[in-house]
Amino acid sequence: MKTESNKYLWWQQGIIYQIYPRSYQDSNADGVGDLKGIISRLDYIKELGIKAIWVSPVFPSPMADFGYDISDYKNIHPLFGNLNDFDQLLQEVHARDMKLILDFVPNHSSDQHPWFIESRSSRNNPKRDWYIWKDPKPDGSEPNNWQSMFGGSAWQWDGNTSQYYYHSFLKEQPDLNWRNPDVQYAMLDVMRFWFNKGIDGFRIDVLWHLMKDPEFRDNPVNPDYRPGQPSFNKYIQVNNSDGPDVLEVVRRMRMLTNVHKDRVLIGEIYLPLDKLMKYYGQHNKGVHLPFNFLLLSLPWEADKIAASITQYEAALPPNGWPNWVLGNHDQVRIASRVGLAQARIAAMLLLTLRGTPTIYYGDEIGMHDVPIPEEEVQDPQGLNMPELNVSRDPARTPMQWSEYRYAGFSPHKPWLRLPDNYKRLNVSVQEGRRLSMLNLYKRLISFRQKEPALMVGSYTQVYADKQQLAFLRTYGKTQFLVVLNLTHRPCYFKPKDFRFSGKIELATYPEPEGKMVKNVINLSGDEGVIVRLHDAR
Ligand code: GLC
Repeated sequence: MKTESNKYLWWQQGIIYQIYPRSYQDSNADGVGDLKGIISRLDYIKELGIKAIWVSPVFPSPMADFGYDISDYKNIHPLFGNLNDFDQLLQEVHARDMKLILDFVPNHSSDQHPWFIESRSSRNNPKRDWYIWKDPKPDGSEPNNWQSMFGGSAWQWDGNTSQYYYHSFLKEQPDLNWRNPDVQYAMLDVMRFWFNKGIDGFRIDVLWHLMKDPEFRDNPVNPDYRPGQPSFNKYIQVNNSDGPDVLEVVRRMRMLTNVHKDRVLIGEIYLPLDKLMKYYGQHNKGVHLPFNFLLLSLPWEADKIAASITQYEAALPPNGWPNWVLGNHDQVRIASRVGLAQARIAAMLLLTLRGTPTIYYGDEIGMHDVPIPEEEVQDPQGLNMPELNVSRDPARTPMQWSEYRYAGFSPHKPWLRLPDNYKRLNVSVQEGRRLSMLNLYKRLISFRQKEPALMVGSYTQVYADKQQLAFLRTYGKTQFLVVLNLTHRPCYFKPKDFRFSGKIELATYPEPEGKMVKNVINLSGDEGVIVRLHDAR
C-alpha cells in the first residue's frame, strides 16, 4: 500500500530478527552454525516478512562467553567462516532488500586480544591505560565492592604487575577504559570498518556499562538482597555503570553513524525507564533504538503490562521511536515463560504495539527452553552460579528446521542438544499447518506490514483489567482495535465508555475472523483479536 507511511525509515517500519549464529544453521558439519548456513536460510527469513537481521557476534574469540569476548574486532571467527563469506552474506541480504545488523561489543574485549596482552605485560606499556587497572586497598583487597555480572568480585588480581583489573563480566572479558581517547578512537574505527563494508547498523552490547563512576566509589548495599540471588544483587548497581559522560560517547558513535546513510544504532540497555530514555540522546543524537526490555521482565498480567506500555509511551522523547522485545539469547524463551497458548497472545502483542518489534530466532515456531543436563552446561553464567539455575543455554539451542536427524540444523551432533520433541516442533511441520505458530507469525507480520495503522499508527489504550488489555492503532481514517486475553479463562470485552463496531480481521485462532462485532466481544481463553473499526465511537 502506498501511503504517507513511506516517510518512515526502514528500521521504524520493518521487523528485526535476531540470529544466534552458533545455533541457526550449520553448513560445514561441525555442529556449530555459521555464515554460509545463515545464507542458506535467507529465503525463509524473507518469507517470514523480516526486514533486518541482527547477528550476535561472529568475530574471532576464545568463546569464553560465546563470542562476547572478542580477540579481533575486524575479522570473522573461522568457526563461522571468513570475510569473504561475510561479504557474501551481506550481499545476499541486500539482494533480498533486507538489512544486516552486527553486534558491537565495545565495553570489553577478550583477555586474549593483543591490546590486553600488551596492557597486562607491564605497568609502563603504552596500552596499560587501555584497560582499567587499580591498586589494591592497603589490606590487599579489591579496590571497591563492584561485582561481576557472572558472580563474584569484578576485580581480578594480576600477580605479574601487582594490580587489579576490572571486568564487568568474566575475568576473560576485561573492560576497556573508554576515558582513554585512544580507546575511543580504536573502537570508533571498528564501527567505521564495518560501516564501510556496507552493514546497516549495530546492536551495541551493554551500552550503559561503558562509563563507570570516575571516582570508583562503592555501590550502595541493596537492602532487598536475598540469599539465592546472584552476588551483584547485594549492591545497587549505580556506580559501576551509566556514568555521567556515557552519553558523550554515545553521541560520538551516532555522529559517526550519521556519516553513513540510513544506518541504525540499537543499544542494549537494562535500566529503568527514566534512565533508559536518556540514551535517545538530546535532540535524538543518541542511539536510534535503546532496546525496550519491559516485556521481558513484567509479570504476565494485563493491567500491569497495559500500565507499562502507557508509561513507556509517555516517557519517550519527542520523535523518539519505540521498540519492543519478547526474547533474546540472555532470557528465558517466551513460550517457556508464559506457555505456548499465551505465546500466541505475546506474538500478537509484539506485532501490534507501536514501535519496531524484535523477534528472537525460533520464537516464531514456539521453541521453548530446552533442558540441558548439568554435565552439558556451557554458558559461563550457568557454570559460575550452578546453584541459581541461571544458565542461558536452554534458550540458545539449535533452530529446529525439520524432523530429520538433528532437526536439519547439522548432520553432526550439535554443540547444544535439541529437545526430544523436535520431530513435531519444527519449521517444516509448521509450514504445512494452518494453525501453527509459524503461520500465526506470518499472518501477523504480513498484516502489520500492509496496514500503516499497525505499522506506524498512533497508540491509544482503551481498556485493561486483570484479564484483558485493549488498545487502538490509528493512521488517517483507518483504526484497529486490538483486544488480548492474557489468561486461560474466557472473558467479555465490554468497556462502559467505549462504543465500537467493526470486523474481526485476524485472531490468534482463525474461527472468529470475518465476524462483525459491536460494543462487546466474547473472548475465549488465550484469545486475541484485531478488529477493523467501522467508525471510531
Ligand atoms: C550482553 C550479551 C550477553 C553477554 C554480555 C557480556 O548482555 O547480550 O550475552 O554475556 O553482554 O558481553
